[in-house]
Amino acid sequence: EVEAPEKTEQFQTLHDVSEAVDACRRCPLYEHATQAVFGEGPPQAQVMFVGEQPGDQEDLQGRPFIGPAGQVFDDAIKNAGIDRSRLYVTNAVKHFKFVPRGKRRIHQKPNTGEIQACRFWLDLEREFVKPKIVVALGATAAQALVGKAVSISSTRGRAIDLEDGAVLIVTNHPSYLLRIPDPETKAREREKFDADLMLIKSMM
Ligand code: URA
Repeated sequence: EVEAPEKTEQFQTLHDVSEAVDACRRCPLYEHATQAVFGEGPPQAQVMFVGEQPGDQEDLQGRPFIGPAGQVFDDAIKNAGIDRSRLYVTNAVKHFKFVPRGKRRIHQKPNTGEIQACRFWLDLEREFVKPKIVVALGATAAQALVGKAVSISSTRGRAIDLEDGAVLIVTNHPSYLLRIPDPETKAREREKFDADLMLIKSMM
């Protein structure tokens, strides 16, 4: 196993990293997933969005945020005037974790060990892309980026300095909005999400 300071020596480019991730055996999640889903976007993007892990559709198609959560994400960034083609979009964990239920595959939250193992890839993405702004979509991404569990309510809406000079903005995961049953709560949470995206837009 290669230690953190030497990591970039085995990869010349972000593309090299993307080609290696599918063979990852750092945790057991590769066993049942279809494929690893690497980040996508301009290799020198100013802004990096980090989700939790691929969902069912992402696992099948090999691209991040293209399923239902991706639809919410696309609508929200568009509403904030952010062009997705300028963003680097990735996940804290690169393989889909699920339990089968009939024909469906039900998403399972990655655990701390899996998040920690997959930081190898997320750190490489950050080292190569060097984004000025990193956005954590949800608690899993925030944990991966901060290195410990953080609550969204106590961190959202303000810039947190990361060691590499980038700033971190923490907000909710778009799937969280999808799961809220009460329309009023949903509308209120959607407004908070929109406000966070407007803040990000103002920083770009
Ligand atoms: N949820 C995520 O966190 N990431 C995806 O890519 C899709 C759904």
